[in-house]
Amino acid sequence: MEREPTRNLALDLVRVTEAAALSAGRFMGRGNKEAADKAAVDAMRLVLNSMDINGVVVIGEGEKDEAPMLYNGERVGTGRTSLEFDLAIDPIDGTRPLAYGRSNSIAIVAISPRGSMFDPGPFLYMNKIAVGPEARGVIDIEKPITENLRAIARAKEKRLEDLTCIILDRPRHDDMIREMRAAGVRIRMIPDGDVTAAMMTAWPDTGVDALFGIGGTPEGVIAACAMRAMDGEIQGKLYARDEDELRRGLEAGYDFNKILTIEDLVSSEDVFVAATGITTGDFLQGVRYTSDGAETDSLVMRGLTGTIRQIKATHRWDKLKRLSAIDY
Ligand code: FBP
Repeated sequence: MEREPTRNLALDLVRVTEAAALSAGRFMGRGNKEAADKAAVDAMRLVLNSMDINGVVVIGEGEKDEAPMLYNGERVGTGRTSLEFDLAIDPIDGTRPLAYGRSNSIAIVAISPRGSMFDPGPFLYMNKIAVGPEARGVIDIEKPITENLRAIARAKEKRLEDLTCIILDRPRHDDMIREMRAAGVRIRMIPDGDVTAAMMTAWPDTGVDALFGIGGTPEGVIAACAMRAMDGEIQGKLYARDEDELRRGLEAGYDFNKILTIEDLVSSEDVFVAATGITTGDFLQGVRYTSDGAETDSLVMRGLTGTIRQIKATHRWDKLKRLSAIDY
């Protein structure tokens, strides 16, 4: 069905992630996660509220770390439109790396039509597998890791020992890592940032073939939005840390055995995603502050068209500081 080109809201969203990155980037290496989070959230909220959308935050940031958040259920945007959206926001994915001046922290926001994002409630962890376009359709989170690795290797026409997997470096992954090592694949164990890690599987030249492991549920939903636009795949399963969490989940109607497909995580293809590098990483450069401004590096993606834009922006303090309520 042909239709007129419609507005690409991701081009507006990139101003949101740029503002968050410009504000949070000041805190690189200063050891203060909370201050960095607050700067990113405040900047994000201000720019989001200038957008002509009627948005509800479904995936907010902060509960896990008791950080200042754009809280779940918060309404954002001017509301001057009939277009209703769900929002998933991660003002900083990789707060710790930012606080200690390490790589791969990003600001990221996704929006999709109202009611299309999975709402994980208070259940913070999810087991995930993510792969890029070539291995779409071959993963199954119910199957053992080795079977998944073989399927991914086959789909990518690689030998197992040529596959590179990425996984958060956590004791809870000891068994998974043992199984990967036994299978003979190469492993990148990362300290943080599994949204970036999921996206790396679908981005050329990162050398990463698959993400495995248990990370944040909010991060899983955001990654699913990005994977929709990047033509990759992500599967998940909610993960209860103990019996009590499992019981609370079941009482609240959550099924910890259900496979969450990419469609369950975000049921519409009509997603818009923007991400800006805060510290330099595998595919986005971090914020560079110059004597009279700053430069940022962002990705802008749209699910419906699959268009991915890379945007390098130059920001000028003399002009910006006259106009903006954000103290860059
Ligand atoms: P934040 O920077 O938003 O705190 O998240 C970092 C992160 O590494 C996520 O990318 C990941 O999903 C989650 O934390 C893993 O949680 P935990 O650190 O508790 O293992």
